[in-house]
Amino acid sequence: MSSSPIGIFDSGIGGLSVLRAIRDLLPGERLVYLGDQGHVPYGPRPMAEVQAFSVAITRFLLEHDAKMVVVACNAASAAALHHLRETFPDVPFVGMEPAVKPAAEQTHSGVVGVLATPATFQGALYASVVERFASGVTVLQDTCPGLVGQIERGDLTGPETRRILEQALVPMLARGADTVVMGCTHYPFVIPLIEEIGGGQLRVIDPAPAVARQVKRVLESRGIRAGGNQKAGVQYYTSGAVESFDILLEKLLNEAGKAQAVAWRDGCVYALSSANSA
Ligand code: DGL
Repeated sequence: MSSSPIGIFDSGIGGLSVLRAIRDLLPGERLVYLGDQGHVPYGPRPMAEVQAFSVAITRFLLEHDAKMVVVACNAASAAALHHLRETFPDVPFVGMEPAVKPAAEQTHSGVVGVLATPATFQGALYASVVERFASGVTVLQDTCPGLVGQIERGDLTGPETRRILEQALVPMLARGADTVVMGCTHYPFVIPLIEEIGGGQLRVIDPAPAVARQVKRVLESRGIRAGGNQKAGVQYYTSGAVESFDILLEKLLNEAGKAQAVAWRDGCVYALSSANSA
């Protein structure tokens, strides 16, 4: 048993879709979340850079007593998960893997779409899940340029967000796609719009609940689950603007939060005192 928190990170607020699922399944676990909004988006960045960010953020989370780390970002998982496990061999990690397997199992038309950022599509992890699980299935891809930024601005339904999604989904629908995978943790926040564009024809796969179940399995196998089911607290950190993080938290999770600021210095992440971050 351990009352230490679970550390969770993403390039921004996307990982909140994973945090939400973890909190629903494991309400008694304390959580510490870091959104690296100072560097968002990760998707178009070189893999080595995303790897360096991921190592530094993991150090920060461990300094904040994290008992495990959830890489709630497909881009960071693609670029760094393997390296993180090598660098911190005693730390249990759970990462994101594009949910091609359930999509391939559930499609009736044999055509599935994957929406993810360039870093995810370039990673070996994506190639490997497609090769292992999607034989006989046509997999269509789209990077939805600009969508992460729209969601970071809290624009979940506006004309530009709709344009980006229509540009991705209309050709997929035309080719017979009936299932679409959220290969970026930001995208579940626009599922209502995706469903509307799909006109009732698209099954949307959000991997967050499966990731939460994996977190539970890992905690149990290591004997480090928190005791009790009382709702435990969440501490939020952002390397961006605290005020906008708090507004998004309210909008996306309906939660009045009080994020704290962190700053990057010499490749490391430091917490700023509340006085500095106010
Ligand atoms: N939320 C992230 C992911 O799951 C990254 C988005 C980005 O920063 O490009 O890939």
